[in-house]
Amino acid sequence: MATSRGGFSSRLGFIMAAAGSAVGLGNIWGFPTQTASNGGAAFVLVYLVLAFCLAYPAFMAELLIGRYGQANAVTSLQKMSKNLWQKRFAFFVGFGGIICAALILSFYGIIAGWMMSYAVEPLAKIVGLNDVASWVISQGLVRNLFFTAFFMSFTIFIIRRGVEQGIEKWSKRLMPLLIGLLILLIIYVMTLDGAIEGLKAYLNPDLSRVFQPDLIVSALGQAFFSLSLGTSVMVIYGSYISKKENLVQLGAQVTLIDVSIAFLAGLLIIPAMYVAQSQGVAIFADDGSLIAGPSMVFTVLPTLFTSMGFIGLFVGFAFFVLMSVAALTSSISMLEGPVSYAVERHDMAREKATTLIGIIIFILSVIIIINLDFMLDFVATLATQYGQPIIAMLCCIFVGWIWNRSDVLAEIKQGNDTVEHSFFWKIWPWYTKFVCPVAIGFVFIHSL
Ligand code: PFF
Repeated sequence: MATSRGGFSSRLGFIMAAAGSAVGLGNIWGFPTQTASNGGAAFVLVYLVLAFCLAYPAFMAELLIGRYGQANAVTSLQKMSKNLWQKRFAFFVGFGGIICAALILSFYGIIAGWMMSYAVEPLAKIVGLNDVASWVISQGLVRNLFFTAFFMSFTIFIIRRGVEQGIEKWSKRLMPLLIGLLILLIIYVMTLDGAIEGLKAYLNPDLSRVFQPDLIVSALGQAFFSLSLGTSVMVIYGSYISKKENLVQLGAQVTLIDVSIAFLAGLLIIPAMYVAQSQGVAIFADDGSLIAGPSMVFTVLPTLFTSMGFIGLFVGFAFFVLMSVAALTSSISMLEGPVSYAVERHDMAREKATTLIGIIIFILSVIIIINLDFMLDFVATLATQYGQPIIAMLCCIFVGWIWNRSDVLAEIKQGNDTVEHSFFWKIWPWYTKFVCPVAIGFVFIHSL
């Protein structure tokens, strides 16, 4: 039940909110893009293995830290610390995660703004406002500022309302909408010429690529980004779960939803690209690989929608609404990290903290927008390739090396009496202590 500091009122509420955080542009854009540029099905296979074998254990570590501490990331980690040095380390890890979440939101909001602008374009065309339609999809300072501000206002609006009335209520509304839209779009694309060829490229792995280091590094990075690890977000969401719930099960359900939606998004986008090809759109780059990144989402797919004629306006609208909704359920989690810290550590009122921090992050977005060519990539790399893996690794080290094993067990046992004799408890502690930090460290060093 909700406590005085707020909490999820039901199991479903938590699952929708945590899956909402996890499912975002990373799934619907990042995953298909990475699949396209890493040889199709081989990437899908490696991603599935790493998501369950490495990202899930790290995800469990973060949820447990939060539920044990019943507070924001810094306070939760400090509760597990036994001396001054550990407390300082806890501050570094917890606050680092909060900064990371804020940095991610500052560039994520810009990209989410583009998604909204591409959703507005077909609407403008339907009502005959052709000038507006072409303005909203042309790169420009004013367009970027306007849509980022618009998107951030939605995010602030939801977080100001708190956990139950904001995060939970809106995640419960938006997540089913997202899943429904995704399935409808897949069904539609599957009826078009070329889709089956795309399906083969997506599902038929070239096993010789499975052990390529670059592919493994990209898959692990993608899995960590997708589960929102290393950002304090899953710690704070963990702190809102009731002690009666079985965390091992909840964590597995959220991971499964996240992975399934990434898989479904690939099932939409890779076949859609081949459909576009059969309609004359170039989908391969000069080196023979599938076009990935922004050109895929903002060139190939819109060309496909245009080639469908009038119905394409509705399909395009539905697709970009899907993208915007996915981004919104993630952005609210990013804002909750810093807001919960300000509310709990600095005694600020939630509404005031949300507006203030939202505006600070928006100012950061404005700086990025003004220097778009250089800063977008820079901030994204800093936060996701450096920040997230380091903080996620340190969280595992905290759980594996600093937190008492008997305290860890006592925490997991709440809501799960028999966990001590389960397969999970046989391998997870060992995994978080050794395998996760070493694997994350390896990937981090390789990506440098
Ligand atoms: N998991 C989100 C996605 O896949 O788009 C991105 C994300 C959300 C990253 C929340 C970090 C975060 F704190």
